[in-house]
Amino acid sequence: MKFKILTILLLLPLFSFAGGKTVYQDNCEKCHGFSQQGFLGLPLYRSTIANHTDDYLKKTIKYGRPGRVMPEFDLSDTQVTELIQFLRSGLPEPKYSDSPITGNTDRGKYYYERYCTRCHGDALQGGEGVGVYLYWQNNQAVSPPALANQAFLHSASDQMIKHIILNGIENSEMSSYANKLNDEMANDMVAYIRSHEKPMVDGETPDDEPLSFIYESSKNMKDTISKLKKGATAHGFELHSSRHLTQNHSDRKQLIVRFFNSDNVIEFLKIDQRLGLILPLRATVMEREDKKVIVVIENYAYTLKHFENQKMNKAASDLNKQMKQMIEAALDIN
Ligand code: HEC
Ligand code: HEC
Repeated sequence: MKFKILTILLLLPLFSFAGGKTVYQDNCEKCHGFSQQGFLGLPLYRSTIANHTDDYLKKTIKYGRPGRVMPEFDLSDTQVTELIQFLRSGLPEPKYSDSPITGNTDRGKYYYERYCTRCHGDALQGGEGVGVYLYWQNNQAVSPPALANQAFLHSASDQMIKHIILNGIENSEMSSYANKLNDEMANDMVAYIRSHEKPMVDGETPDDEPLSFIYESSKNMKDTISKLKKGATAHGFELHSSRHLTQNHSDRKQLIVRFFNSDNVIEFLKIDQRLGLILPLRATVMEREDKKVIVVIENYAYTLKHFENQKMNKAASDLNKQMKQMIEAALDIN
């Protein structure tokens, strides 16, 4: 009997470890990779996590990194604890002092421009695109994170930032600056990075772009669909097979008209393969309860802005213009 209890007690940590793995697979793996090697997200090797306090990890999971693809998560305390345990896989939590760092921000800016701008950007905005592999500029494997990101600044302590600057991150392009910066210079740099923090407003969202554009049609469902299809062809788009929103095909109250323009597609994918996410283009036609027919198109600027890639943003707003023109002409909206 005693023996049984003992085995169960011994196995408990293993169970929570397994729990953390499931939480990781369900929420993080698609961006941080099968073996934490990074993908759209940064690598989360245990040697990387060795720099991070539990508090930093908890806040990063809770706030995400708005504008940098990393979403915010609403996980239970147990899930987060198990997840962190899984990521650490045996390595202890690092300990830093809580004392805030003071320094000269002007000098910090000077050192920053000298050593850090080329990777983290002149406005601390991070590298273009995000993550590993999909980023090919300067042949860097990993896109350097945004240091002016409010969620980063609200999660990381001064001492942790200083530690990373002086020690670097193992297995990454972030090398140690201990031989270039003395203690005082590192403090100036931390003060400069910290000066980008703004007070956090509860429930704040950085998104003022609408999620989609909605048009009211003056025609019934059937005529709206046929006008839309004609309009698309007239604007040089090729039609794809349409799809019903629900599995129930007899539900004729909503239909997705799908189309693309093959010249555009090639140009698009040259900018960034991730633009393929939005293809084929779609317009959803729906009959509302009041019998009015509406046409909904996605706002590509909203969808793609999370990648913070100038070229993609430009392509998205050009595409929005084309789609709006096409729909407005097809539905006789001026
Ligand atoms: C949709 C993609 C995506 C998902 C899902 C995602 N992340 Fe991230 N994560 C990112 C990106 C991108 C970054 C880098 C942000 C930047 O470049 O500024 C990041 C950064 C991080 C960082 C900071 C790394 C560092 O070195 O400071 C941690 C920690 C992290 N993520 C943990 C998680 C955990 C844990 C989960 C699952 C609960 C998760 N992420 C899910 C995309 C994602
Ligand atoms: C060669 C490119 C490069 C240079 C130069 C560089 N970094 Fe980094 N930095 C990175 C990369 C890549 C990461 C993410 C590494 C990882 O998590 O795997 C990073 C991570 C960081 C982090 C952790 C941020 C986070 O979200 O986890 C801080 C802080 C940081 N760098 C500060 C600096 C400072 C300050 C300088 C200048 C002294 C600097 N870096 C110079 C590439 C660079």
